[in-house]
Amino acid sequence: MESRIKIAPSILSADFGILRDQVIEAQEGGADYIHIDLMDGQFVSNLTMGPLIVDAVRKSTNLPLDVHMMVLEPSRFVSELVDVGADLLTVHYESAKHIHRTILDVKSLGAKAGIAINPGTSSDVIKELLDQIDVVLVMTVNPGYSGQEFIKSMVPKIKNVRKMLDDSSSEVELEVDGGINVDTVKLVADAGADIIVAGSAVYNHKNTVAQSIKNIRELIF
Ligand code: DX5
Ligand code: ZN
Repeated sequence: MESRIKIAPSILSADFGILRDQVIEAQEGGADYIHIDLMDGQFVSNLTMGPLIVDAVRKSTNLPLDVHMMVLEPSRFVSELVDVGADLLTVHYESAKHIHRTILDVKSLGAKAGIAINPGTSSDVIKELLDQIDVVLVMTVNPGYSGQEFIKSMVPKIKNVRKMLDDSSSEVELEVDGGINVDTVKLVADAGADIIVAGSAVYNHKNTVAQSIKNIRELIF
């Protein structure tokens, strides 16, 4: 049985020595997207991946690539990322001077566009952008690292966004990212998420990648 909710494993927690194998394991384990966390050491303190890694992941799987850009002025990297095969580019509301223009740039290149909002950012900021985007990403940790604790007080925000989308019959998908594991996934699913990101719960787990995805999936049917 197919779950209504999509699962997007974040390779930030993967073993980079065997990245291709880790991506294939997620695909074979039933992942719907591969979530790739780009961090520039400025918007967040961590420094992670860029277009080269997106290119390498593109060559390892046919799954859609969900690229989460935690970089200042994301517009600088949009065209390069689309060129190497990113399917969904999600930019942080807090990171761009002209977020509307950045979103239009993404769309004009034929990719899907998402807006991410930090825990401290009100969901009201997405209202004027809903007609332009494909995904809203609600952060349930402060961005920068895998393995942080889920911020439970974000659950009402997820519900607010769900209501905002439903009230306007919007087809925008609601993605949630940060601290999602077998203990927290049901809260997120019940609050109305369409896409769930999981990093350490998929890759830093005593189980295999496929088993970890299955354990999450079983809780959200
Ligand atoms: C955090 C990243 C997340 C992270 C999720 O800034 O955006 O995608 O990899 O990892 P977990 O699921 O361990 O919180
Ligand atoms: Zn992410």
